[in-house]
Amino acid sequence: MGRQVLVTGGTGYIGSHTVVELQAVGFEVIIIDDLSNSTADVVDNIERISGIRPVFEEFNLLDLGRLETFFEKYRGIEAIIHFAAFKSVGESVEKPLYYYRNNLVSLMNILDCMSKYNVPNLVFSSSCTVYGQPDQLPVTENTPKKDAESPYGNTKAISEEILRDVVKVARELNVIALRYFNPIGAHPSALIGELPRGIPNNLVPFITQTAAGIRQQLSVFGDDYNTTDGSCVRDYINVVDLAKAHVIAINRLITSINIDRYEFFNIGTGKGASVLEVVKTFEEATGVKLNYKIVDRRPGDVEKIYADTTIANTVLGWKAQTSLYDTLLSAWNWEKRIRNID
Ligand code: UFG
Repeated sequence: MGRQVLVTGGTGYIGSHTVVELQAVGFEVIIIDDLSNSTADVVDNIERISGIRPVFEEFNLLDLGRLETFFEKYRGIEAIIHFAAFKSVGESVEKPLYYYRNNLVSLMNILDCMSKYNVPNLVFSSSCTVYGQPDQLPVTENTPKKDAESPYGNTKAISEEILRDVVKVARELNVIALRYFNPIGAHPSALIGELPRGIPNNLVPFITQTAAGIRQQLSVFGDDYNTTDGSCVRDYINVVDLAKAHVIAINRLITSINIDRYEFFNIGTGKGASVLEVVKTFEEATGVKLNYKIVDRRPGDVEKIYADTTIANTVLGWKAQTSLYDTLLSAWNWEKRIRNID
């Protein structure tokens, strides 16, 4: 039997890809997910890819009693990757308390149980959102954080502060926070990927749905930014590459003796791509012409952000491998499979 890792949010987009990568190197994975933004058939598809069915427990992490019962049952868990959180920027502006309660209380419940049941290692899903619009690019881990643009972003910033403070007093606890840039793409099998509910907010699901004919037209939000072609610049990271960073982080926590007890890393490619470059690369990779138009800027968007990944490269020994071209193709293959397009 492999070492046990709990993955909260393990049927979600990044979670499911991480479960597959953990299984590939021999970890025994237990998922907790309330299916609020995913479906149970993801567990079947994880099994199809890896040949191993992860244990799946369906409940909400706000239920501390239920979580304690869970830890009473699974005594061998050595590490936790905590993905489970709400992540829609716009929705968080509409429902701030809902976001703060869900994202912060679930983290606090996890931390309580880690102390009570002696689980020492945590990998936390953070985000480049903690940097806001940085004054200097690329952003390093030490770039000053700005006020969050949204309650969602603020839950990530506050979560990092909670972790920093708790690590100071919880002597057994070791934490790695991974600050993701923009995760995109899907598993090469096309069996798991990103499935947004309703109209997608994020660029790549909107692109693939437009290409599939589900959306009529992609709106490109602004072409008058101070960038090479005027559209916003982001650091788009392949979701499988991102998933692998979690496996490295888990191994580092489990095996290292000389690590800082609270570490954080930028996880991106180190390269910025504009919205129009993403559109063009998608068209080249897939041969599908995208119907798009330039519209006004989207309120709250940062102009450009991309990562300095030197610390992740050197300290974790992790580097993004997959090109934007291949990643966009994987996103399209996923969309085609779920929509039954040849
Ligand atoms: N965009 C469009 N049209 C769309 C959707 C997006 O032009 O239909 C543009 C956006 O304006 C932006 C880029 O595509 O320039 C990327 O937008 P996403 O919504 O995909 O991603 P964001 O960078 O806005 O958001 C991401 C994460 C959030 C996180 C945020 C922090 O999805 O979780 O970064 O900046 F909070």
